[in-house]
Amino acid sequence: MNSNQIKEITLSLLDTFKEAGNIALELRKKGLKKEIKSDNTPVTNGDIEVNNILTKKISSLTPQIPIISEETSSNKKDKNLENFWLIDPIDGTLNFLHGIPHFAISVALEKKNEIICGVIYDPIKNEMFLAEKEKGAYVNNQRIKVSSRKKLKDCLIFTGGPTFTSNERELGLDEYRKISKFLPSPLRKMGSAALDIAYVAAGRADGFFQRNLNYWDIAAGIIIVKEAGGFITDYSGNSDSLNKRNILVTNSFINKDLVDLINS
Ligand code: IPD
Ligand code: CA
Ligand code: CA
Repeated sequence: MNSNQIKEITLSLLDTFKEAGNIALELRKKGLKKEIKSDNTPVTNGDIEVNNILTKKISSLTPQIPIISEETSSNKKDKNLENFWLIDPIDGTLNFLHGIPHFAISVALEKKNEIICGVIYDPIKNEMFLAEKEKGAYVNNQRIKVSSRKKLKDCLIFTGGPTFTSNERELGLDEYRKISKFLPSPLRKMGSAALDIAYVAAGRADGFFQRNLNYWDIAAGIIIVKEAGGFITDYSGNSDSLNKRNILVTNSFINKDLVDLINS
């Protein structure tokens, strides 16, 4: 697939994100039905319906490209796949379920170990964050850039987790303590990793870190923040062969400070 074809496909999906977003909002108004998954996290009929709309449309556009989605049972990555879509139908399910208006639909396309385009759509605020490789990052057609704050003492940093069930909970809390000491305000938890990353890309926050994420939480954000001039690394500071569980997203100035603090 060449870059014009990618662009065409991405653009033809934007209406589908809006349609899926509207359906999520309607279902939320009627009252969501919740189930608890085997990993002890909630899923709603809204997550499932959005997943159905997206997977149907995407597989009709690119039947040759497999889809890995959080809400599709065969979602484990086959190591031999070169190209695949990654879908998180609702990122921020807990917010969605509790009537907190902060969640998003997130879709990305990976080609040869690299995310080449990504979309994060917030149906409440009607904000479509979008990026393609080497084409810049946008929200609703307006170019976005990461912030230019250089010192942690001036920065607003997002985080998420750590979950109670995670055996890494203590490590997570330890990182909060280490990083908080250098910030002017407490760490902020918004409840949607995809939007956390999109907001760093748009310069609304200066950084985001969290351990124990899944690839679908961050896939679209990877290209959006890179194209906005930011950094996405793992906790060791690697950006190329990123460990996709423990993630640090920053403007171009504070990445090293956060890597050093996390590893201190
Ligand atoms: C969750 C959100 C949350 C993050 C969790 C994720 P979900 O995704 O992104 O902000 O802290 O680790 O699992 O379950 O709402 O798709
Ligand atoms: Ca998620
Ligand atoms: Ca989800």
